[in-house]
Amino acid sequence: MALRCAVFASGGGSNFQALINRKESGDLHVDFVLMIGNNSTAGAFEKARKHNIPSVHLAPSHFKSPDDYQSKLLAVLQEHRVELIVLAGYMKMLPSEVVRRYNNRIVNIHPGLLPAFGGKGMYGSRVHQAVLDYGAKVTGVTVHFVNEMYDEGPVICQVPVIVNDTDDCQTLAGRVLEVEHSTYWRAIEAIAKGAIRVEGRRVTGYV
Ligand code: GRF
Repeated sequence: MALRCAVFASGGGSNFQALINRKESGDLHVDFVLMIGNNSTAGAFEKARKHNIPSVHLAPSHFKSPDDYQSKLLAVLQEHRVELIVLAGYMKMLPSEVVRRYNNRIVNIHPGLLPAFGGKGMYGSRVHQAVLDYGAKVTGVTVHFVNEMYDEGPVICQVPVIVNDTDDCQTLAGRVLEVEHSTYWRAIEAIAKGAIRVEGRRVTGYV
C-alpha cells in the first residue's frame, strides 16, 4: 500500500500541483488521500477537485475553541488514515497535539536555507525580500520535518539557489519556487521508500 498523504495548503497550491504531477507521472509513489485548506478560496481546492482528491475546509476561526479545532482535525486525519502530512504553502501552525501524534510524519518546504531567514512570519516573498535586503549571495529551499517551533524541525534536504545581482523579489521567488517544485517530491519519495533516518536533529538517507 502506498504512503497515505494529506496535503495542507493555504494558497494557490503550485507545490501541491507539482506533487500531483510527479505522482501521475509515476515518479512519486504515494497516495494523496486528502487536501486540507484554511482558506476556502484557495486555488489548491480546485486542484484537489480536478484530481479527485477529497478536500476539507478547516479553519481554526470556525471553532468555538482551539481544542474543538484540534479534535476535528485529528478526527479528519484519522478518518482518512493519513500517514504523512505534507504542508505545501500552508500558513497556519498545526495544533501541538497533531504535531505530537505525527512526530517526524509532518513535512514542510521553506523558500530559504534554514535556519537563516525562517521563523514566525517568514514566508513567501518576505523570505526573498529579507535575502535581498541582507545581501545574501545564496538562498535556496529547505524541506524539513515539522515540530512545535516554526521552521525548526530536523532538516531533510536543502538545495541552494544563487542570488543574481539583477534579482528582485519576483525573479528570485520564481527561481526558488521552481526548485521547490523539483525538490519536494524527492524528499517525500525518500520518506515513502523508508530511506530516511532521524537521529535527534540529524536526518540521513535522503539522496
Ligand atoms: C510559496 O512562497 C512557497 O515558497 C511556499 O509557500 C508559498 C506558496 O506556495 N512553500 P504554493 O504555490 O501555494 O505551493
